[in-house]
Amino acid sequence: MPKPHLLQNLMMPITIRGKEIPNKFFLAPMAGLGHVAFRELVAEFGGFGLLFTGMCSARAIPCENPKISKVFTWREEELPWLVCQIFGSDPASMADAARRVQEEGFFGIDLNFGCCAAAICKRGSGAALLKNPDLAAEIVFQVRSAVNIPLFVKFRTGWDNAPESSARMATLFENAGADALVFHPRVAPDRRARPPKWQHIRYVKDAVSIPVFGNGNIFNARDCRKITMESGCDGVSIGRMAVAKPWIFAALTSDDGHPNSDMKTWEKSTQSKFNTNHGESPNIYHYTASRIVDLLLKHNDEKTAVKMFKKFVPCFAANFKFGHKICQRLLKGDDPHAIYEIIHGALHPLPETTAVPNLNLFS
Ligand SMILES: Cc1cc2nc3c(=O)[nH]c(=O)nc-3n(C[C@H](O)[C@H](O)[C@H](O)COP(=O)(O)O)c2cc1C
Repeated sequence: MPKPHLLQNLMMPITIRGKEIPNKFFLAPMAGLGHVAFRELVAEFGGFGLLFTGMCSARAIPCENPKISKVFTWREEELPWLVCQIFGSDPASMADAARRVQEEGFFGIDLNFGCCAAAICKRGSGAALLKNPDLAAEIVFQVRSAVNIPLFVKFRTGWDNAPESSARMATLFENAGADALVFHPRVAPDRRARPPKWQHIRYVKDAVSIPVFGNGNIFNARDCRKITMESGCDGVSIGRMAVAKPWIFAALTSDDGHPNSDMKTWEKSTQSKFNTNHGESPNIYHYTASRIVDLLLKHNDEKTAVKMFKKFVPCFAANFKFGHKICQRLLKGDDPHAIYEIIHGALHPLPETTAVPNLNLFS
């Protein structure tokens, strides 16, 4: 079935600072969720344009050891489509971190001007920088001067909830040398309680000539089309829904998926491919939960893998009608063997799924 125009546009390549990206669907940066194991799972399904790491401390990066770091770590194969996100508030150390990111061979670098966690803002980093536009612009300028790779800035609606301020910030970032912006239209103290205001992205889009990617509560193809229509954004960045459905990029970019469907059509049409190693009949949810455990164990010791699986569970359980129950069950296992057993018990046969995720679990 042919895709409507706006979705087709998202599926077209885009060039940023001379580097081509196959489409305009990005995996959003997510500390604790977007780790190397999760990105490997997303890469196995495919369909994305770029993947972003969770935020890494700029001060730590220059002497960080990727072999032991939980955040500044990657697979060689993913570097051509991987953007490293950094946070900090000192322009010189942000520039130093950017140099290391470039030396390691990442596709690009992303500056975190959006995180409003107290621990980050207290030190003047993340969204706190939106209160200090001159310093934020100086960081962009110094990072730009330090590296040649594509430079992204991810930010959100400022503390005053005025889209005009976001437009002014966007202009500052463009003038300081940013190549693309990712904008999350939520006011800074609002962590994710209220829906984002997609119309506010248009202020940012109209203020700059570099590409603008919209972010916040994108769950399916219909949302991709709606956010593009409401804001004029060039592409989309998807966070929690990619944790719930790591195949979302494959489904959005497949030719046989119905653009108005909630992805169930795609899930059904590809079901037969997803056999687990554990001998059950195919089911993409069961496959995915088992596979993330395999990959977490590949990249971490058992204890860390179990901890990371427990972070993955709430978003993933949001797929199901009685998600809170399934969440409770999946959180019970304390070693990999128990977790595989629980996954089998909870997801085979497949429980009823919901058209949109259960937002209460989707924190
Ligand atoms: C667990 C978690 C960790 C996050 N970590 C980061 C981060 O490290 N850097 C960042 O810029 N945004 C971070 N975010 C925000 C997301 O990138 C995104 O802006 C937000 O979740 C809204 O998009 P979504 O509705 O598609 O999830 C995080 C969000 C979650 C849920």
